[in-house]
Amino acid sequence: MGLTVLLFVCLATLGGWMRYQRLQGETVPAIATPPQLWLSLRRLHVGLGILLTLTVLLLLAIGVVGTLGHFGSLGHSPHLIMGLTVVGLTLTSAWSATQINNPNTVWARSLHLSINGLLMLALALVSWTGWVVVQKYLP
Ligand code: HEM
Ligand code: HEM
Repeated sequence: MGLTVLLFVCLATLGGWMRYQRLQGETVPAIATPPQLWLSLRRLHVGLGILLTLTVLLLLAIGVVGTLGHFGSLGHSPHLIMGLTVVGLTLTSAWSATQINNPNTVWARSLHLSINGLLMLALALVSWTGWVVVQKYLP
């Protein structure tokens, strides 16, 4: 989970940097970012994005397998809903990212940003509800 949050913060920073450079280049072409720098920012952002998706799926698998193994059933708390929400938002964000450079889906960039805003909230809620279930096992 720590890794997930770290990746999220790095993605937000890289994404914000890419956005800033892109908008600068649009308004002041003279100081446009060298394409190589922008491309490496983008490659890093996409690489970390794929890692984020994988860690979230891993946490889902651990949560589901662990809970099934221990209780034989799912759905003991709002943590299940929040977990599924985080996974859904992450997958939607990754999908919207693949559409950003598709001229037929001009809304993909703003969708990517809105989904990531919601994802920040959802990550906070999944940690909180996860923490609440952890408390149940403590004496
Ligand atoms: C889920 C995995 C993610 C993937 C695969 C991904 C991928 C991408 C891609 C391909 C772009 C477009 C670059 C271009 O213009 O060619 C992009 C832009 C961006 N992403 Fe992500 N991203 C992910 C997660 C995130 C997260 C978690 C955040 C923020 C919390 C974020 C913030 C941004 C921002 C701010 C931009 C720039 C938008 C602009 O230029 O206006 N991304 N991302
Ligand atoms: C992206 C992050 C996470 C995802 C996708 C996720 C997903 C899940 C899922 C789907 C379950 C099964 C819940 C049920 O059926 O009731 C589960 C169980 C559990 N998770 Fe997570 N989880 C995440 C993060 C966390 C965190 C941060 C904590 C601790 C602070 C945590 C602690 C637990 C515990 C203790 C259980 C057993 C729940 C029970 O007995 O009802 N999880 N998780």
